[in-house]
Amino acid sequence: MQTLRRFLRSLWLQKPLTTDFVGYEVLLDFIKARALHRLEGDLIEIGCFMGGGTVKLARYASKYGKRVFAIDVFDPTADVTATPDGTRMCDIYLAFLEGRSQLEVYEQAVRGLDNVVTIKQDSKTVSFPAEQKFIFGFIDGNHQPDYVRNDFNIIWPNLVASGVLGFHDYNTELPEVTDCIDALIAEHTDEISETKEIKPQHIILMVKGQGVGKV
Ligand SMILES: C[S@@+](CC[C@H](N)C(=O)[O-])C[C@H]1O[C@@H](n2cnc3c(N)ncnc32)[C@H](O)[C@@H]1O
Repeated sequence: MQTLRRFLRSLWLQKPLTTDFVGYEVLLDFIKARALHRLEGDLIEIGCFMGGGTVKLARYASKYGKRVFAIDVFDPTADVTATPDGTRMCDIYLAFLEGRSQLEVYEQAVRGLDNVVTIKQDSKTVSFPAEQKFIFGFIDGNHQPDYVRNDFNIIWPNLVASGVLGFHDYNTELPEVTDCIDALIAEHTDEISETKEIKPQHIILMVKGQGVGKV
């Protein structure tokens, strides 16, 4: 509970209620610095919660005629992963929602953005056809390691060369997430040209190498 209170307090101080947890500005900075808009494909986010980050990605994507696929189960009780002191992810989400419907808050946030494709499903039931290309993906859904691996496998095969895939919660209070990401990086090391950790936001980004991306 102490972690939950500390976590909530830090977010309340930093941001208004309907924004994102992560601070998607750092993702957009990286996307822009690498000029990912020049690549062919769309953006994808797994775990959008109240849609604040989805909105930021969608505004960027719309400038280049790209879509944002936003996947979320929209059940704030679904993720029971706990930090070592026992704070469960679902408790954090429910505290933020203060009794509101997650889906209603999200729908209000993305209203009017016609390039958002919302997929209201458990990510284990989601897959994309081979022809769907992604230039950028961000994984911040269920924090159980089997979901982290599942979510990677949804995006990575369809990521184009020089495309970027990011994870939230790297090197923070969910050690199994970090271990799973490290294992994925080791397993795919030949396909990754660069990794970049953004420590303040607990993000790790991996850039797909030339010659191994979706063509
Ligand atoms: C940490 S929140 C995402 C926060 C968001 N990235 C942001 O910065 O605002 C994690 C999200 O994953 C969703 N989630 C949990 N289990 C899921 C599952 N099995 N499939 C899809 N989404 C899931 C939750 O509903 C929640 O909205």
